[in-house]
Amino acid sequence: MYQFDIAAGSKAELYRDLRGALDGLTADEPDAIANMANAAALIWEYLPDLNWAGFYRVVGEGLVLGPFQGKAACIRIAFGQGVCGAAAASRETQLVEDVHLFPGHIACDAASASELVVPVVVGGRLLAVLDLDSPKLARFDAEDREGCEGLMALLGPRIA
Ligand code: SME
Repeated sequence: MYQFDIAAGSKAELYRDLRGALDGLTADEPDAIANMANAAALIWEYLPDLNWAGFYRVVGEGLVLGPFQGKAACIRIAFGQGVCGAAAASRETQLVEDVHLFPGHIACDAASASELVVPVVVGGRLLAVLDLDSPKLARFDAEDREGCEGLMALLGPRIA
């Protein structure tokens, strides 16, 4: 139904285009799950070299699997556990060049080599984390971090 031309040259352009697509798809939709689902699908479509892209939602005292693209994954993650739990506990983005060197990394998909996890905080409340996995070592850099933080700043109020 939705088709996007992904013609971006630089990473900055790629994130600008991706942000525009995300804005268009979520602006008038109040349902949080629908917006997370489309965000995961867009990220999966736009960003190369991913083997998993999706959300863990804050439910009670931990994280629970939300909308995603990729292989079936672990359902519940405690705060402080693995890369996602570290992002949730610290409320800081985790950029991991080699997941095998990250203490407590949870290997949902054995293919994952690097990971970027961005917390989604709205009005001081942690709602979810965005989790991106890549089969390539050091797939994510500062531009990906800023790009994804920008995407989550846009999406946050639309999943609140
Ligand atoms: N690797 C994550 C777990 C989630 S999966 O990658 C989808 C972690 O260590 O938190």
